[in-house]
Amino acid sequence: MTESHSRSVVKGISWRAVGTLDTTFISYLITGNPLKALSIGGIEVFTKIFLYYFHERIWQKINWGKPKLAMTASESSTKSIAKTSTNIHPVFDRLLSREERESFLNQKGKVIWMTGLSGSGKSTIAVQLERRLFENGFFAQVLDGDNIRSGINNNLGFSLEDRTENIRRISEVAKLYLNSGIITICTFVSPTEEIRSYAKSIIGAENFFEVFVNASLEVCEKRDVKGLYKKARKGEIPDFTGISSPFEPPVAPDLILDSGNETIDTCVEKAYNKIQSLVKS
Ligand code: ADX
Repeated sequence: MTESHSRSVVKGISWRAVGTLDTTFISYLITGNPLKALSIGGIEVFTKIFLYYFHERIWQKINWGKPKLAMTASESSTKSIAKTSTNIHPVFDRLLSREERESFLNQKGKVIWMTGLSGSGKSTIAVQLERRLFENGFFAQVLDGDNIRSGINNNLGFSLEDRTENIRRISEVAKLYLNSGIITICTFVSPTEEIRSYAKSIIGAENFFEVFVNASLEVCEKRDVKGLYKKARKGEIPDFTGISSPFEPPVAPDLILDSGNETIDTCVEKAYNKIQSLVKS
């Protein structure tokens, strides 16, 4: 893992304090002159602090001798698959079946995949939809981008590579929930057709219900509930969806919620009506 620049600077300063005391002391022993010793030590503070910083940054770039921890997310996932796939023996077929679980829950499992810009209303709609389903006897669970990124995916950023890994992991988790018969509401920006098709291919097209939570960039930016658009415009958040990273609206979603023009209640109502007809057994 590459250290931050500020960490290198602070380490430089702390090492300099130790080093300069040492140099001053040795200079005094050799010259017997405290003034000379202090001048040597004093000059050295400034020259060595810069040298240390550059020395440290150069070593950061040299991989020789580093422990092999610094893999990217996708490298690590591919490598771990490659490492384990030959020696693992899944027992999926011996577990209780999805049908048994669905019949226990008296519903059909489904993955409701909500895509849309940050601030379009995905999470707000999902939270209300989950409760509405629950109050009507359905068992649902929301998997939300910000929640998931504060736990299982807290080592991922927002490069295309990391977003793809984010969606791969969450799709695998959603599939586990689905096989437990749960109505799994996923709220992820999932900004490209390719990323959403990837999720669909993991979850299975017949289990995947795509909802486009449609609020324009102008609306989301005007609302700016989390203050992220303002930061992104100032260049403080790299790869921000809609600003410095693309968002491709879905080509053929199963449902469009016009959250830019309609109230949250109306969107929840529309989603509930559609979904309850899909999940009732
Ligand atoms: S996704 O693109 O990988 O699907 P995800 O839905 O998990 O994204 O996370 C999006 C949330 O992370 C947004 O709602 C926002 O709060 C936050 N976020 C932080 N940085 C970014 C960014 N660069 N782009 C988009 N969202 C971001």
